[in-house]
Amino acid sequence: MARPTTVFVCSACGTESAKWHGQCPGCGAWNTLAEEARADTRRSAPAAGRAVKPVRLADVRAERHARLSTGIGELDRILGGGVVPGSIVLIGGSPGIGKSTLTSMALGNLQGAGKRTLYVSGEESAAQIRLRAERLPGAALEVPTLAETDLDTVLATLDAERPEVCVIDSVQTLHAADLTGAAGSVGQVREVADRITRLAKARDIAVLLVGHVTKEGALAGPRVLEHLVDCVLQFEGERERTYRTLRALKNRFGSTNDVGVFEMRQGGLVEVEDASARFVGEATRAPGSAVLAAMEGSRPLLVEVQALVSPSELVPPRRVCNGIDRNRLALVLAVLGRHAGVSVGSADVFVNVAGGVRVDEPGADLAVALAVASAARGLPLGGDSPKPVACFGEVGLTGELRSVGHPDRRLAEARKFGLGPVIAPAGSEGGATEVPTLRAALRAALPQQPRARAA
Ligand SMILES: Nc1ncnc2c1ncn2[C@@H]1O[C@H](COP(=O)(O)OP(=O)(O)OP(=O)(O)O)[C@@H](O)[C@H]1O
Ligand SMILES: [Mg+2]
Repeated sequence: MARPTTVFVCSACGTESAKWHGQCPGCGAWNTLAEEARADTRRSAPAAGRAVKPVRLADVRAERHARLSTGIGELDRILGGGVVPGSIVLIGGSPGIGKSTLTSMALGNLQGAGKRTLYVSGEESAAQIRLRAERLPGAALEVPTLAETDLDTVLATLDAERPEVCVIDSVQTLHAADLTGAAGSVGQVREVADRITRLAKARDIAVLLVGHVTKEGALAGPRVLEHLVDCVLQFEGERERTYRTLRALKNRFGSTNDVGVFEMRQGGLVEVEDASARFVGEATRAPGSAVLAAMEGSRPLLVEVQALVSPSELVPPRRVCNGIDRNRLALVLAVLGRHAGVSVGSADVFVNVAGGVRVDEPGADLAVALAVASAARGLPLGGDSPKPVACFGEVGLTGELRSVGHPDRRLAEARKFGLGPVIAPAGSEGGATEVPTLRAALRAALPQQPRARAA
């Protein structure tokens, strides 16, 4: 007999508790526990377990399925070579970033290649989905579509249609009728993902689950969702900008080192294969601009870091950054002032990674430091050198430059696009201008050194 039980679930971490606490016993957050009634879903389980003989791995039958190509090179690469049949992929991203566009395009291509597909949307009506599909390439208009929010209906349809690949847009909009709580609540999201996963694994349906992210950038719903699925892809970028990056945070069937770069256009998302060329082509040689040889996972990428240092009336002055971590900027400014003789004092400092790209690696420190120093001194990097300067390296608290991963690939990328000299930490070799400290890097990048303007 099904017996409804009541549990208290933390909306931050998903910890369950039999009774209410003001502070979550799992993550320590306050007032996050909410009551949830749920049907006892274990009712069909046998009362007592039956012992099963474990199987030697060598005796396990494992059929090798060919991966399904989505027809989107960057997406296939990030998945490790295409969608694995029966796998569950969670695609997270902020509103309007292009999750529905990307998944609709992938299904359109798969449908066009003769695969059975299904697009389930709980957010948009079939008419809205059609309007988007009209501007997409491939067989996007041929994709069978279901606009539905009831989980049981979706599961029954999946079971009847047996698509090879299915998109659920989004996991937060489906609702399990036998659970209380609004769609999108912790318990609902987990139940929806769990039941879809079980059906998909049993029927060998590959599912692309779209998920929303919270303001803080985490995937909404409990982190348990990330454990449940095979791959977690994060779609990033700023809505107002055209460039978006797609990276794998977790992948059971491939590496998590790859990053795909896309551009949003009228005809949908277009892969940007020569991203470095784009970003470097747009780079200026004005004071305050530095080219960073970054690594996006295992892929080298040249991006322009821009800085503006301007007198401020505000106390404290502004420290605004886009595309880099705020704390890294504070660290770089402190080291610049203390060890490299570039004090921005009470001036406002703005730092921006051009193109809306986010570089979350310590190797970006040197580019930020050089861009700020160049802006503060009003001098372009490289002086009269015909080629733009590129750089990479982590700035240490004592003013030293520390080495970062893959110097060879960063150097090769900079050379490929005709940049030089490349200012890098000692030990980078490969023709780099090796410097041991931030002060030495400034001497190499800013040959003439008039007094700092904003100091
Ligand atoms: N005609 C168009 N030309 C160019 N870009 C467009 C056009 N129509 C929509 N877009 C872009 O597509 C984006 C919306 O994409 P999409 O609906 O795939 O996002 P989403 O991540 O699914 O959003 P949500 O979280 O709201 O579901 C818009 O932000 C806009 O930039
Ligand atoms: Mg959408």
